[in-house]
Amino acid sequence: MICFDYIAEYIRNTIKADDGILLELREFAASNGIPIIRPETAKLVYVLALATRPYRILETGTAIGYSSILLARTLRDGGIVDTIESDDKMLEMARHNIKMSGCQDKINSIAGDTAEVLRCLDKKYDFILLDAAKGQYIELLPDCIRMLNTGGLLVSDNVLFKGMVANDKLVARRKRTIVKNLREYLGNICNNPALETSILPVGDGLAVSVKML
Ligand SMILES: C[S@@+](CC[C@H](N)C(=O)[O-])C[C@H]1O[C@@H](n2cnc3c(N)ncnc32)[C@H](O)[C@@H]1O
Repeated sequence: MICFDYIAEYIRNTIKADDGILLELREFAASNGIPIIRPETAKLVYVLALATRPYRILETGTAIGYSSILLARTLRDGGIVDTIESDDKMLEMARHNIKMSGCQDKINSIAGDTAEVLRCLDKKYDFILLDAAKGQYIELLPDCIRMLNTGGLLVSDNVLFKGMVANDKLVARRKRTIVKNLREYLGNICNNPALETSILPVGDGLAVSVKML
């Protein structure tokens, strides 16, 4: 938790519990140590997407499909979520779960490393969620800006990385590179003339940027 535990706990208790497939996936993730988006972050991402009703969504880090299914529920009619995952086993589970959710026509899962896939993608998106390989965010940024429509949202999870990004004393030795890259990423999205950004201490830290130009 990067804010007081009692506040995070209070906020979590205000959130309507998942049901159906999303509940099953959250329970499966918890009992198998699979990191998926935290409930309070998921709610914020869901509300942002609902408020903007994207037509095309890009997500990095599918894991078992939880956030892809959540995002698919916010799409405008005929819209699509493209989601990228590098781990074959995860992708297999995600594809099964997506089918079970009935959202298979709204979610296109792509196998591969995000940086490589993004370089080859030539589409436009209204909403991009970065949730894989935080150390790579800075490398992915030019492609994200290139593919984001004006007025679209770039939402980046884990940007405060257990608080380490905001406090040198918390930085574990082997995490130095990730922290350095995340600081560079935040410096860029907060000062980039193409973006307006707000960083929120929700979950592990969420940056919300809107493309202005
Ligand atoms: C935090 S999990 C994603 C959780 C998912 N967004 C959710 O909330 O349901 C991060 C996922 O990114 C994948 N991943 C890590 N590095 C990646 C990369 N370079 N390209 C694509 N996927 C990657 C991991 O295998 C993992 O499944």
